[in-house]
Amino acid sequence: MSAVDVMRVWGGARLAGEVTVAGAKNSTLKLMAAALLAEGKTIVQNVPQITDIAIMAEVLRRLGCTVHAQDYGDLIIDAPGEPGAETDYDLVRRLRASICVLGPLLARRGHVRVAHPGGDAIGSRGLDMHVAGLNRMGAEISAEHGFIVATAPGGLHGATIWLDFPSVGATENLLMAAVLANGVTEIDNAAREPEIVDICTMLTGMGAHIAGAGSSKIEVEGVPALHPVIHRTIGDRIVAGTWAFGAAMTRGDVTVGGVDPGYLEIALDKVATAGATVETYPDGFRVRMDRRPTALDIVTLPFPGFATDLLPMAIGLASVSDGASMITENIFDGRFMFVQELVRLGAEIRTDGKHAVVRGRERLSAAPVRATDIRAGAGLVIAALCADGVTEVSHVHHVDRGYPNFAADLNRLGARVERAEALPEPTFPFPSTPPTRG
Ligand code: EPU
Repeated sequence: MSAVDVMRVWGGARLAGEVTVAGAKNSTLKLMAAALLAEGKTIVQNVPQITDIAIMAEVLRRLGCTVHAQDYGDLIIDAPGEPGAETDYDLVRRLRASICVLGPLLARRGHVRVAHPGGDAIGSRGLDMHVAGLNRMGAEISAEHGFIVATAPGGLHGATIWLDFPSVGATENLLMAAVLANGVTEIDNAAREPEIVDICTMLTGMGAHIAGAGSSKIEVEGVPALHPVIHRTIGDRIVAGTWAFGAAMTRGDVTVGGVDPGYLEIALDKVATAGATVETYPDGFRVRMDRRPTALDIVTLPFPGFATDLLPMAIGLASVSDGASMITENIFDGRFMFVQELVRLGAEIRTDGKHAVVRGRERLSAAPVRATDIRAGAGLVIAALCADGVTEVSHVHHVDRGYPNFAADLNRLGARVERAEALPEPTFPFPSTPPTRG
């Protein structure tokens, strides 16, 4: 934990005011990888200032790119004629999404070694569909000493690929391999997330031939080369959704800008079901709540279903709602791991496999809790706004991975939060009086 890895959150807040979200983390990371597909300067705009983007920039640097971030959110990536073909273990471990360089590097170099990303705190997260799809396109892939080693000695060729599940990461990797492959690739049961459409828009701007973006069947006709482009990232629907749930839970009134509300149709419908008034605009929405939320049932599904990344906020809302809610998680097997932290705040939750039954309480009760991943961390902070007392959320570096200026935005919206120093880990030899926090 770094020195300021704790967030203190004063309970009893009401979120009210306006907030604008930056570009989507889960788009930007892949758009940065897509820049590897063309020699020269690509500019990605509306980039969020978060840790994951900084790590991805380092991944690209080590592959031979120069990467500059401008204050106003532009990221300039200058990709070399021949990018490196190996990513190191430490960076991939810190950013699982860096696996998305596999497709573009294989397409450009014909061989690549990417450290195996392993699982993380929300579940096992396999790569079988990435591997099976690339195999079909002519790649040979093996696992060696913790690395995924992929080669395409005869180059990649078009193929028909059926995904067992509409995996976001597999769809993106296959897309980025297919744009430079020889012939036509068809990806069936493709992911339909707005971030997939965003990457297809950027690739098309780079000269790729893609049809069907946003549908379950994407067709890509490979071209010999792509060129750099200037592309603006779409707004972050998960950050926006976090504010929507925060407004509903704190009986607040928040207007969120910078995002297409069409990306959040089901999430906004759920907060409306809980009793909030929702208005949508071309570039945002407003959520107002003037009473205790009512219980609601939620099932996570691939887009356009309810986003798994908003599950912690949904459970938070259910925890303070009137009645019992049933929340079902269908995407990640470990997503309920953070529930034990919410229980520390007094939430009444029972989980069984994919299901959580939540009996709402009028108020939660402050306690020390620990963020286990980005979304769990944000969910705990929002839940702490509904608790009596001051909650300390530790390991908030997870939140920094996905939420730019979270503490500042919360304070601007009327909450009281501050970053605090984490107590040092006990070590030998230990002092005779225990350390206290200043
Ligand atoms: N899966 C496999 N095999 C594969 C690929 C996926 O079994 O080859 C499984 C995974 O284990 C998981 C499910 O399929 O259970 C969904 O995985 P998917 O590939 O769709 O997710 P991802 O690409 O790893 C992205 C986001 C996640 C978001 C999911 C679902 C990024 C960097 N990450 O992950 O975002 O939850 O899609 O929408 O884009 C976050 O931002 O906090 C986050 C976790």
